[in-house]
Amino acid sequence: MNPDLIETGTAEAAPCDGSRRRFLSRLTMGLGAIAGALVAVPCVGFLLGLRKVPSAWRTVGKIEEFQIGGTVKVSFRDPSPLPWAGVTARTAAWLRRNSQTEFVAFAVDCTHLGCPVRWLAAANLFMCPCHGGVYYANGTVAAGPPPRPLPRYPVRIQGDQVQILTSPVPITT
Ligand code: FES
Repeated sequence: MNPDLIETGTAEAAPCDGSRRRFLSRLTMGLGAIAGALVAVPCVGFLLGLRKVPSAWRTVGKIEEFQIGGTVKVSFRDPSPLPWAGVTARTAAWLRRNSQTEFVAFAVDCTHLGCPVRWLAAANLFMCPCHGGVYYANGTVAAGPPPRPLPRYPVRIQGDQVQILTSPVPITT
């Protein structure tokens, strides 16, 4: 049977429009190429490090909310959340107040594979629940697979507010 002929329901066969078939074929390939580019371009940009993530100062609370010697978890908005990030745009840090004016902030992300670490005040340690990573109070590695100390965020005081300079946290695989 000739592929350029289609049945019309009558005894006659009408010639199929070959240019329409070619048009639909090219349209399909074109839309496929556009869809592929929409997925590939951001991925390639990320892999090549072309997407710059800005740092931003985030307020995490008033000075008087933090006890001297205490370590508490503070949460804040990621510096460059994707539009569809929703609640995942929020991240956290462990903030310790050392004196009237001195604060130190640790990333919550374990340097092994990124699990959130917990502060155990009784043990004076940060513990990672995933593979047994343990960090001393100053963020250095005490035990387990973490290859590096917990990253720190710069902290400043603006008026009566404590602010953290957020930035992407490097994770080792
Ligand atoms: S992710 Fe923390 S020890 Fe593996």
